[in-house]
Formats: sequence, C-alpha cells, structure tokens
Amino acid sequence: MRNSSSYLAASAILMSCVVNIAAAAPPSAATLERGRYLMNGVVACANCHMARGPKGEYLMDKGLSGGMPFDDRMFKAYAPNITQDGETGIGRLTDAQLAKAIREGIRPDGSVIGPPMPIEFYRHISDDDLAAIIAVLKVEPAVRSAVPKSRFNFALPPAYGPPVMSVKAPSRADKVKYGEYLVAIGHCMECHTQRDQKGMLLMSSLGSGGRVFPGPWGESVSRNLTTHESGLKGWSDAQISKAVRAGVNRDGAPYKPPMAFQHYQNIDDADMAAITAYLRTLPPRPFGK
Ligand code: HEC
Ligand code: HEC
Repeated sequence: MRNSSSYLAASAILMSCVVNIAAAAPPSAATLERGRYLMNGVVACANCHMARGPKGEYLMDKGLSGGMPFDDRMFKAYAPNITQDGETGIGRLTDAQLAKAIREGIRPDGSVIGPPMPIEFYRHISDDDLAAIIAVLKVEPAVRSAVPKSRFNFALPPAYGPPVMSVKAPSRADKVKYGEYLVAIGHCMECHTQRDQKGMLLMSSLGSGGRVFPGPWGESVSRNLTTHESGLKGWSDAQISKAVRAGVNRDGAPYKPPMAFQHYQNIDDADMAAITAYLRTLPPRPFGK
C-alpha cells in the first residue's frame, strides 16, 4: 500500500486504473484463464461465496450465489450472491464498481463491506489479476437467490485505507516476493494471524496461528506457519505442499475446514514453491503469539 500525497492525486490515479480495467473488455481467453486459475486456486472466492446445501456441500448449479452464514461474537454475516443477477446479485455493478468493492470494500452506494470478506488482503490484488477475476465474474451465469443482510455489532471503519492506486504484482523471478503476493491474495494470514481487541491484525503474530474456527466440523485451530519449532521448521517442501494442496498432515491425516483445500489443490508447482519460499522467511514465533 502506498501513501497518497493528496486525495485528488489518489483519485486521479484511481480513475486511470479504473479506465484500464474497463478497457480490458471483452476479456481475452488468457485473461479468463488467469481469472479461473486464481479463483479455482489460491484466491478461492468460492470457499465463502459458493451456494451450499445443509451439510455444507457445494451446490454447483447455484454457483457463487452465496448464503453461507458466518457466526462470530461480533457479527452474523452472510456471503452475498456475487452472480450476475441484477436484483439479488451484482449484475448491475460496472467493472469499476466491482473493482472498488473487491479491492477496497466499498459498494457503489458508499457503504463498507464487513468481515469476513478479506479486504485488508485484497487491497494487494494487482490490476491485472483483479481485471481477470472480474472478467470471470462477468461471464458466470446469473443465479437468482436472495441472501439475508449481515449484522455487525460494531461500527465498520469508514474505509480500509486510502483509495487503492494502481497495483502491480512482483516479478515471478523474485520467488519470495511473489510468494508473499500469493499469500496476501490468498488471504492465508486472515486465518493464521491473531487479532487485537479492535479486530485489527496483530502483525507481531504474523503467521503464528492459534485462531479457533468452530463449525459443523467441530472445531479447528489454525497452525503456526512460521519457522518456529511449533511451526514449519522441521517440514520439508513436499510436506508443506501436501498440507496446503492435499489437505493432509505429515501422518497423512486430513485437516478440517475452513481452509480451502478443494481449491488449493489447483495451485501449480511454481506458485506452491513461491508460497513455501515466502513462508520460510517468516521469523520464528511461538504458536499463537
Ligand atoms: C472469507 C470469506 C470470503 C472470501 C474468501 C471472499 N468473500 Fe466476498 N464477501 C464475504 C462476505 C461475508 C461479504 C458480505 C459482508 C457484508 O455483508 O458486509 C462479502 C461481500 C462481497 C461483495 C459485495 C457484494 C454486495 O452485494 O454487497 C463482493 C462483490 C464480493 N464479496 C466478492 C468477492 C470476490 C470476487 C472474492 C474473491 C476474490 C471474495 N468476495 C472472497 C466473504 C468472503
Ligand atoms: C479460512 C481459514 C484459513 C485460510 C484462509 C488458510 N488456512 Fe491454513 N489452516 C487453517 C486451519 C484451521 C488449519 C488447521 C486445520 C486442522 O488442524 O484440521 C490450517 C492448516 C494449515 C497448514 C498445516 C500446518 C500444520 O502445522 O499442520 C498449512 C501449511 C497451512 N494451513 C497453510 C496455509 C496457506 C499457505 C494458506 C493460504 C494459501 C492458508 N493456510 C490459508 C485455516 C486457514
């Protein structure tokens, strides 16, 4: 994230980036392929926005029409319908409006999108990757399905930061930096990092895990991804890859949700290697600290 010298300068740059995104239509096959690769892989929007049946199973024919409830001490949120339906979905949003919703958490009416939509992390999505994701959303079929409104027992912030200017992904040649980018847009740290009383991420605990996720599966606790003994210190690259992509631990036992293993299995080898390279740079931190 960069500091904007003035709001006007920031919005001028934002406008130019908006124009770039809008000008990308109609999307090329390569753009759609990139968007699908991200969404079926590390970005995993469907892990929250996919319609689900009573046992949490995906309802494939209902696509990203949402409805999944998120119960928290501080809120009861529902994943909205993000299909092209004009009334119950996002069919009326322009590309620029969608970009602002996804990357900045601000809807066209100015209201702010609340948790657990991981806006803090989506602020890092590059212009190209964002355009690719939006291109995919636009070609998916419209599904009519009204979702209840979320309730938050606290005031949402007026914004998650200054307007996002143009974002460029780091070069793949820099494996660690590109891995950091993938971990950001995959919002891995949303679950693997502690938060303070105000709900802000505790950067001093980045990657140390210890967050509890109750659900139909009982309870799962996010693990320590740092280089500490209680983390990934003794793990081989192959074991880390197997945990993330196959969803099994070093003894071959399956992990519980809500980590998006069904999607992460599609992360390609180069991206998995970059993610692992980045995780290996996390300073050792005790579990959950
Ligand atoms: C961890 C769960 C989660 C993930 C992952 C997630 N979302 Fe969301 N999203 C939500 C929730 C919950 C809301 C609604 C929050 C609220 O009601 O304020 C939301 C809101 C939205 C909205 C606003 C829709 C509206 O009508 O207000 C859009 C657009 C959206 N998400 C798109 C995406 C896209 C695209 C991705 C992947 C790049 C994604 N989301 C990933 C949970 C998630
Ligand atoms: C929605 C929350 C969530 C997200 C997002 C998430 N994780 Fe996890 N992760 C968990 C939980 C919970 C566990 C433990 C599951 C269990 O114990 O059954 C876990 C386990 C792991 C493990 C196993 C480590 C060990 O010590 O056993 C690794 C590695 C891991 N996650 C890496 C990642 C990476 C890399 C990403 C991003 C690409 C990611 N996680 C995204 C919640 C999440």
